Amino acid sequence: HALSKENWRDLLPGVFGWLEKVQLTTDSTPAGTVVVAAEIKDKTNDVLIDAPNLEAQFRSKLSDAVAKAGWSGKSGPLTVVVDNTVCVVAVADKVDVCGAPKRRDRKFGLDVARVLRDCTADALTLAGFKDANLAEVFDGLAMGLYDLDGFKDHANRKDAVADFPKKIVLLGAKHGKDELEGYRAMARAVVVTRFVQDAPPNYLNPLMFAEISTDISKELGHKCTILGKEELEKLGMHSMLSVADGGKTEPRLIFMEVAGEDTSKTVALVGKGLTFDAGGTSLKPSAGMDEMKYDMSGGAAVLGAAYFLGKVKPPTNVVCVIGASENMADGNATKPGDIVKSYSGKTIEILNTDAEGRLVLADALAYTAEKYKPELMVDAATLTGAVLHGLGTVGAAVMSFDQDTASYLIKASEAFGEPLWQLPLWNELKKEVKSEVADLRNIAKPNVKAGTIIGGVFLAEFVGDTKWAHLDIAGTAWSSLAHGYPASGGTAFGLRAMAAACMNFNK
Ligand code: BES
Ligand code: MN
Ligand code: ZN
Repeated sequence: HALSKENWRDLLPGVFGWLEKVQLTTDSTPAGTVVVAAEIKDKTNDVLIDAPNLEAQFRSKLSDAVAKAGWSGKSGPLTVVVDNTVCVVAVADKVDVCGAPKRRDRKFGLDVARVLRDCTADALTLAGFKDANLAEVFDGLAMGLYDLDGFKDHANRKDAVADFPKKIVLLGAKHGKDELEGYRAMARAVVVTRFVQDAPPNYLNPLMFAEISTDISKELGHKCTILGKEELEKLGMHSMLSVADGGKTEPRLIFMEVAGEDTSKTVALVGKGLTFDAGGTSLKPSAGMDEMKYDMSGGAAVLGAAYFLGKVKPPTNVVCVIGASENMADGNATKPGDIVKSYSGKTIEILNTDAEGRLVLADALAYTAEKYKPELMVDAATLTGAVLHGLGTVGAAVMSFDQDTASYLIKASEAFGEPLWQLPLWNELKKEVKSEVADLRNIAKPNVKAGTIIGGVFLAEFVGDTKWAHLDIAGTAWSSLAHGYPASGGTAFGLRAMAAACMNFNK
């Protein structure tokens, strides 16, 4: 009952191929359809066409046309023709964003994409508001053009991108060529991540995750190593292995090595890649259980990061690690009370099989720290439902026993438009993950609460002296209503934070 095994590239949203070819320029004269940002003045409700890079006379004609149309901005974007040029006027929301200004630009691009799905112009010019970063608008536009249609009947599938513009002009923007190519690479990486997130769990299982990682590594020239069940057994990774016991698909531990400028240093990115989390024997309730296909979002973000970094060359080597597994209920599945020996040698009493992400990461982190001796290690995981209660959907939680590492991540990530908020790892809580019959227990006693922090405290047991930070992205990875992100499906959250951590390292 698996979906037919076509090449995964044929299932990718069309925007991925479009992004490869579209010409990106910063010309100072508009071409094709012109998208203009409008601002609605607070008290008067006047429409202000605030696009400084549009030629003054053209701008005033456009303002007149908008006034004549009686457009208030409330009825959605307005299409008017000025001097034979089609103009789409859209409101650039004055959304208040949490210290991550790029998200306003991205949101505008996302809004514009909705209008442009039917645009058949050969070229598209983005004429932004004052202080707009048009490359970020482009980024949002690319996110808005994403459409997961690969799982629909191919006979009826229309090539949505065939009509997309071949050229995008960021009118009068200051970005250099390398910077624009960086934006292109990130936009494509986001598509890869979202595709892997959104794909159904009977298609995107650990084997397919490994296959896609292998193919991408080949394309970009990364060394890629995949450890299967037998290798994991030989290495003694029984913590990770215990999670997969109930699933019919074997687990995979994936390593993609991206070469950087300074090859004497390594940053490690590690992602939780649960392609489905039914909870195991500690079965989850059935309502909304389908959402647990997104439990591989950390791994998907790591894969996206490997793609992006392969295109832009990071300052240091980066090893991208994905722990891919299912967590299913079955006669062979782990039982609450079972004790397993992890790769590190520490034994773990598994009191709740639904706290499985930490069991996979325990072995992935310990092995990565030992083998690659990274200068910095960052993991991203949809680890706890509790983080959704604590922080909601706008930003993710960051945790570290090292304050400098936490601060470094917060700063780097904010510049890439993904807010992180720190939760403390209190030393007092270390004892809460100690077991009476094993070295560790995978959940704390019920009175301890602080579920997200406990997750971080548990993981910290496996990183040794490595500088390490943990991102809990369970609130932000999908369906986020956060500003600047798609309204449903995967958001690729964590990709930008991890890419930022790598790109700013060694500077
Ligand atoms: N994948 C879940 C966390 C999750 C829950 C992500 C809801 C997104 C939305 C994780 O494996 C899990 O089940 N965590 C448990 C931990 C608990 C048993 C200590 C949780 O959050 O309930
Ligand atoms: Mn779980
Ligand atoms: Zn999970």
